[in-house]
Amino acid sequence: MSRHPLSGKNIVLGVAGSIAAYKAAELASRLVQVGAQVDTVMTREATAFVAPLTFQALTHRPVIVDLFDPRSELAIDHVAVAKRADAILLAPATAQLIARLAAGMADDAVTATVLAAAAPVVICPAMETNMYRHPATQANLARLKEWGAVVVEPASGRLASGAEGIGRLADPGTILGTLRWVLGRNGDLAGRRVVVSAGGTREAIDPVRYITNRSSGKMGHALAAAARDRGAQVTLVTTVAPDPETAAGVDVRRVESALDMLSAVQGAVQSADALIMAAAVADFRPESAAAHKVKKGDADAWTLRLVRNPDVLASVSGPFIKIGFAAETRDIRENALSKLKAKGLHMIVANDVSEPGSGFESDTNRVTIFHADGRVEELPLLPKLEVAHRVLDRLVELLG
Ligand code: PMT
Repeated sequence: MSRHPLSGKNIVLGVAGSIAAYKAAELASRLVQVGAQVDTVMTREATAFVAPLTFQALTHRPVIVDLFDPRSELAIDHVAVAKRADAILLAPATAQLIARLAAGMADDAVTATVLAAAAPVVICPAMETNMYRHPATQANLARLKEWGAVVVEPASGRLASGAEGIGRLADPGTILGTLRWVLGRNGDLAGRRVVVSAGGTREAIDPVRYITNRSSGKMGHALAAAARDRGAQVTLVTTVAPDPETAAGVDVRRVESALDMLSAVQGAVQSADALIMAAAVADFRPESAAAHKVKKGDADAWTLRLVRNPDVLASVSGPFIKIGFAAETRDIRENALSKLKAKGLHMIVANDVSEPGSGFESDTNRVTIFHADGRVEELPLLPKLEVAHRVLDRLVELLG
């Protein structure tokens, strides 16, 4: 079974009358692709922008517009859709919809569904800047938050009117990531603080050149997203910007070099329950980075002197679980076990980075987990998100 947090979930997608309604079609499609069952509920105004048939075709389910349409499921049992919802996603939510919700109204299919549901509500406003900033809209949103709704702030940029400002529907990735966070809030890592590192460090030679490695950050980002999906409060220390879906609900700290990573990790592990280092930290850096671009002149060769970087994982300690990764191309067992010991780890996840589909840059990974108590677990080739969940399963056991 898929470990995607939205797989098998009943999501009610409420669409209101805004030009951004067409973007709700992408949300519906992405939700269906990850295995969610989507019931679309539209305001009458929304149907002026996008036809219900669009959502019906994408979700393979009837779309509800009229509260009292005899053919509509809602008319048969007007709370059925609301009752089975795991979450309600209102995207786009107009000022009008937000005002009616804040007034507790149930005068159309969308508001009636929200009022009849006990599920968490995620509101994604989209409107003109002044409407969004108006004290009435802000007060309405504050009231809905007080009642437990989660609001995904709109983005700034070009609006339908041609003006620039805040009010664009948030990025679909941010919306889906927030939905994942909301659904996972009571997961088995709820109340835990997890620090994850990701990506290859960049060791500057001069302002335009650096030494790095092939780490894309995918493994670490999958760990951060999976820990967030299971309720953890996650800090992601990374050299690569995560996609918006991963970043939602995660405290992202961008770094470049091993020394940057060391100070970010040292800061983040204070009061953490676990540190998982999936980053590929450069063992060496240029002794000094030139202040200006080094010119080739007529030189035939260039000798760079490298000095040792600190070992981030070995140098942090405290009452938290320490999990390392080991990127190996041979003698995996020996190398992984010696790192487990030398760095004082609870477990180390070893991957053969020379194997196709495994290690650097791929979306899959084949890992062997070596535990401090001597247990060894060989996992098959799996998507990195699933590898992340297997590692977190072990973390949950270690945390007791
Ligand atoms: O980012 P991807 O493209 O998805 O690729 C994933 C990955 C291959 C980078 C990942 O799965 C992985 O193996 N990460 C660890 C890479 C590595 O640097 O391994 P290592 O064997 O050199 O280091 C062992 C451990 O010590 C690692 O947890 C590393 O983060 C840590 N380390 C290493 C050196 C250093 N100076 N400080 C450290 O903390």
